[in-house]
Amino acid sequence: MDIIIKENYEHMSLYAADIIAGYVRSKPDCVLGLATGSTPIGTYRELIRKHKEEGLDFSQVKTFNLDEYLGAGMDLAKPYPLDQSYARFMHEELLKHINIKKENIHIPDGLSKEPKKFCQWYEDEIKKAGGIDLQLLGLGGDGHWGFNEPGSSLGSRTRVVVLTQQTLDDNYEAFYKKAGIERSQMPHFAITMGIGTILEARNILMIVNGPKKAGMVAQCLEGPVTSQVTASAIQLHSGEITVVLDEGAASQLTNSAHYRHTENIKCAYGL
Ligand code: GLP
Repeated sequence: MDIIIKENYEHMSLYAADIIAGYVRSKPDCVLGLATGSTPIGTYRELIRKHKEEGLDFSQVKTFNLDEYLGAGMDLAKPYPLDQSYARFMHEELLKHINIKKENIHIPDGLSKEPKKFCQWYEDEIKKAGGIDLQLLGLGGDGHWGFNEPGSSLGSRTRVVVLTQQTLDDNYEAFYKKAGIERSQMPHFAITMGIGTILEARNILMIVNGPKKAGMVAQCLEGPVTSQVTASAIQLHSGEITVVLDEGAASQLTNSAHYRHTENIKCAYGL
């Protein structure tokens, strides 16, 4: 596991975008797993810049998003300001700015009439696409990946879940409140890829910023693997793992001196 500590959010975002761009350049038809939240916005902005200014080509790329609120989706017939769906978020923050084909975009359908069936279909589509080459992940305030709240099995698959109070509070503050939406209107259920689904991605890129998440970052990377901090499953992954943190998020790591040393020595030897 490579743990990279960058001085701030901007540097974290540029580093993460470089990794994603590297996959797209070396395998133009790669399959990317994408995440939402405030954390990846800087990474997406840099990818958009690379597309516009450097010609980074997404025309053959396929994407699968981690999760979506149940009861929310990309329904263009609905009034825009009330739509805080992840589909809308992805469209606004990345997808409409790059040359990705509509049919190559997969986001869990929060408006599905048969969510259980949909979840199985989503799993099948990931398999049909040949699996995810690189999964981008953030970290929830309660240590979750996607919407895999504490108590989710580490082998879980795409399914419907109930959100914790903490997730509702965090995401209300970050997104719903800003859009002027009442607390009571926020969805309490979601569709999420499971931890087992995420662990099948060939490679993992996790980004986390800010001192608020420092304790959770330490638990996830240096604590025990536990279903109470579902992102701690990162320690079980067998592919290439890169964790990019800013100084704030890294501030409670016990072994940060070793991670910095490893990064420096790898750079020096071109590894
Ligand atoms: C939501 C998403 C997660 C994301 C998390 C962190 O819960 N389902 O995938 O990692 O928010 O969001 P933020 O980046 O805004 O802190």
